[in-house]
Amino acid sequence: MPAHVAVIMDGNGRWATQRGLPRAAGHREGVKATRVLVRAADAVGLRYLTLYAFSTENWSRPEDEVSTLMRLLEESIYRELPELMERNVRLRVIGRGNGVPLPVRRGIDHVVHETRVNTGLTLVMAFNYGGRDELLDAFRALARRVRAGELSPEDIAETDVSGALYTDGVPDPDLLIRTSGEMRISNFLLWQIAYTELWMTSVLWPDFSSCDLYRAIADFQRRSRRFGGV
Ligand code: FPP
Repeated sequence: MPAHVAVIMDGNGRWATQRGLPRAAGHREGVKATRVLVRAADAVGLRYLTLYAFSTENWSRPEDEVSTLMRLLEESIYRELPELMERNVRLRVIGRGNGVPLPVRRGIDHVVHETRVNTGLTLVMAFNYGGRDELLDAFRALARRVRAGELSPEDIAETDVSGALYTDGVPDPDLLIRTSGEMRISNFLLWQIAYTELWMTSVLWPDFSSCDLYRAIADFQRRSRRFGGV
């Protein structure tokens, strides 16, 4: 079993457009698919599930779409808390906190706090996240340690970089799933996916089901991971 699966949930807009619906309807269906995925990930015993919920680039979408996504997130996070507790799921958030509307930030902080002692699945939500921003923040933190005399540049090890990322303590993903047929990484977990297996599907995110997760895992189990060796 993979311990950590990361998912780029893509295709909400196209799902809605294909049905003559507003994009917001696609995002609402996307939330449902996300709930199904968390349940399936818990049921199969994954240790970590990382979801790309909102990227730093997503702020450039039309204002009403951004506010719909923020509202959906705020609503969902409070609504899902009882089930997260029941399933012993711990929420962790990666991304930059600044720039996030206060009510959303408050909701996220509340759920992170409430679930902090849970020991089951860790749900890592990438929110206001950008992979290059994460690396920049890590490099800045390392540069400060060098300036303070705690670390010499020659001694900077991979573990120092990993430890300076938002994902400190989270193992690298074993499997990365992307929906909607796009073959891109889109600034997601750039350092962490060095040896991650990629699994792309043309299924649009609102149509993603637990069977799709099982398919991806079954494919992963047939692959041989060599991490650069033979
Ligand atoms: C991609 O669809 C999805 C997003 C921009 C955000 C992901 C958000 C959700 C799945 C909603 C639920 C999650 C939370 C936590 C509220 P797209 O709009 O890029 O689709 P398109 O590529 O077809 O336009």
